[in-house]
Amino acid sequence: MVDHRKEAARASMRSEEETAAGAGGEAPNGLQMPPALMLDLARRAAELVVEWQESLPGRGAWDGEFRGELEQKLMEDPPEQGRPAEEVLERAARDILPLSLRLGHPRSFAFIPSSPTWPGVLADFMASGFNTNLCTWLVASGPSQLELVVIDWLRRWLGYPESAGGLLTSGGSAASLDALVAARESAGHPERATVYMSDLSHSAHIRAARIIGIRPECIRLLPSDDRFRLDVNALAWAVAEDRDAGFNPIAVCANAGTSSTGTIDPLEAMADFCETEDVWLHVDAAYGGFAAVTDEGRKLLRGIERADSISLDAHKWFFQPYEAGGLLVKDASTLEKAFEVRNDVLQDTIWGMNHPNFADRGLQLSRSFRALKIWMSVQTFGMAEFRRAVSQGMELADRAGEYVQESSVLELLSPVSLGIVCFRVNPANAALDEETLEKINRTVLSHIFWDDPAFVSSTLLHGTFALRLCILNHTTTWDDVRETLEAIERFGKATLSQEAP
Ligand SMILES: Cc1ncc(COP(=O)(O)O)c(C=O)c1O
Repeated sequence: MVDHRKEAARASMRSEEETAAGAGGEAPNGLQMPPALMLDLARRAAELVVEWQESLPGRGAWDGEFRGELEQKLMEDPPEQGRPAEEVLERAARDILPLSLRLGHPRSFAFIPSSPTWPGVLADFMASGFNTNLCTWLVASGPSQLELVVIDWLRRWLGYPESAGGLLTSGGSAASLDALVAARESAGHPERATVYMSDLSHSAHIRAARIIGIRPECIRLLPSDDRFRLDVNALAWAVAEDRDAGFNPIAVCANAGTSSTGTIDPLEAMADFCETEDVWLHVDAAYGGFAAVTDEGRKLLRGIERADSISLDAHKWFFQPYEAGGLLVKDASTLEKAFEVRNDVLQDTIWGMNHPNFADRGLQLSRSFRALKIWMSVQTFGMAEFRRAVSQGMELADRAGEYVQESSVLELLSPVSLGIVCFRVNPANAALDEETLEKINRTVLSHIFWDDPAFVSSTLLHGTFALRLCILNHTTTWDDVRETLEAIERFGKATLSQEAP
């Protein structure tokens, strides 16, 4: 037996000696550093991050540079001799990290913003420091149990039964790939397989279908209706026609929050259809899934619990640093049937019944400890705060939608859904044609890009160019949203006076 107390005493003596040596300015030894230097550097790194986060509201939400400039600054041979570590940290914080979309900026409304909590950031640091690898139970039993805890939280939030299970992934793309592998295997891996989704589904699903070997012409992108929802009649028609032609429908992908409009597909009707047709239903809730922690979101997502699999991203609407995705399947055994492969060199890691090896549930063997950040954040703040933060995004987006509808300059282009508002500059009495409107709105977008601290992006809604605000950040205030809309109105009026015939 290991005497843990003796071990601890020896470790503490060692660390006191090392600390003393480090404090005396001892340099790195091989690839190791004295503890005092490690602590100094960790403190400095933390200072740099906190200073950066504190300074964000006073900066633009985006910064970037052309490749030529960056090559001049950064392209170099790896140095033969090391440099002082603090200098290296400062250089990363000064020359590299700020050149990006500041996804956590309170006026970052483009694409899908992300505003991680500090315990989540620290969890990533600790998981790296403890060098955790969540491949098998033997290699990481504590972390594996914690992943089961977090998966169980997700299961309950989504209303899944106890038979459900899953794993945390790098993100929604990996989750949908794992889901489609499970769908294909549970259909018996047929030839001439087909997959169905709406024309507003995320490209991750087209890519996942390609990777599992679905021929591009067998990926059916079905037309969404005038509210941007998948048309279940079109789905039924396509499946029937394919079956008649000898194809094998293996999966339908539904959206629980399209990234363009936040639209939720008719989940109940799709579940009815997939049950009748015995086709796997995957719900892509990478964007909208965490709305389920709120009462309103749970109502909106009704039917999600009937899906065979659900993907959801904690690095989107659950305020975690990248990467934190997840996949849940209604019947946990479907994932293991799809992914479990015997490996002689890992034979010692088989612990036995009820000790899952996460490597048998998805595409990765070596896996980082993603559950820790979700767990530490929830433990620190509590679910009441998370519910409030998720609701806030929906409330601000609803308010932005009302603002747009009352504006004499702006036009709402899709129903506000799950924190997303799509609209454009189009004064009611201006009678502008589509070409002119697109030109005006592109110009407005470029004004925001260059002249405003906010970062806004655009999308195409059935071919119509739309400005789009995605309001998820828990630090965003109504003033951030209102001032951005006011700037868009201002740029819109200025552009209209120059461009309109
Ligand atoms: C609706 C939706 N599905 C899937 C994805 C892909 O997720 P990830 O980027 O985490 O791989 C995204 C990403 O934005 C998304 O919005």
